[in-house]
Amino acid sequence: MHFDTRCSDCHALEKDVVFAGPSLFGLRARMSLAEIKTAISRPNETIATGFEDGTLVLVDGRLISGNITVEEDHYLYSSADKNESFTKVEVEVYSPAISGMPEGLLEDLGKHEIDDLHYFLVNLKGE
Ligand code: HEC
Repeated sequence: MHFDTRCSDCHALEKDVVFAGPSLFGLRARMSLAEIKTAISRPNETIATGFEDGTLVLVDGRLISGNITVEEDHYLYSSADKNESFTKVEVEVYSPAISGMPEGLLEDLGKHEIDDLHYFLVNLKGE
């Protein structure tokens, strides 16, 4: 099964187990098949919650990297223990999140193999 060779290094199937990527436990309950397909073929289109690492280079030279969201007139950095906000004039460069999941994972698979993988994913057990 292709999941074991290509995906399981980064994704656990057990609940709340996080490797480089989120657990895929109960995937079907939170994503449609179409969303799952996009997550695999274009990882950068949507980034899973908690994995959206962006980077800010501040005018004062500091580098902030982590969960950064862009609000109307400021950037918001949030981590488990604090939230920090930076106005646009304080920020020199903002680089949005890039998915930690590589592109082109299924490029060399045939249609049947890809269908098998999708079938496997939508049928993952959940609660
Ligand atoms: C090198 C590590 C890596 C590999 C290999 C990898 N992924 Fe990912 N995957 C990630 C990361 C990191 C995320 C979270 C960022 C994002 O959403 O793009 C993610 C997100 C996802 C999501 C979205 C989950 C959600 O809750 O939004 C799905 C579905 C997924 N991967 C499936 C797969 C499948 C299927 C494979 C094998 C074909 C695979 N991944 C291989 C790292 C990986």
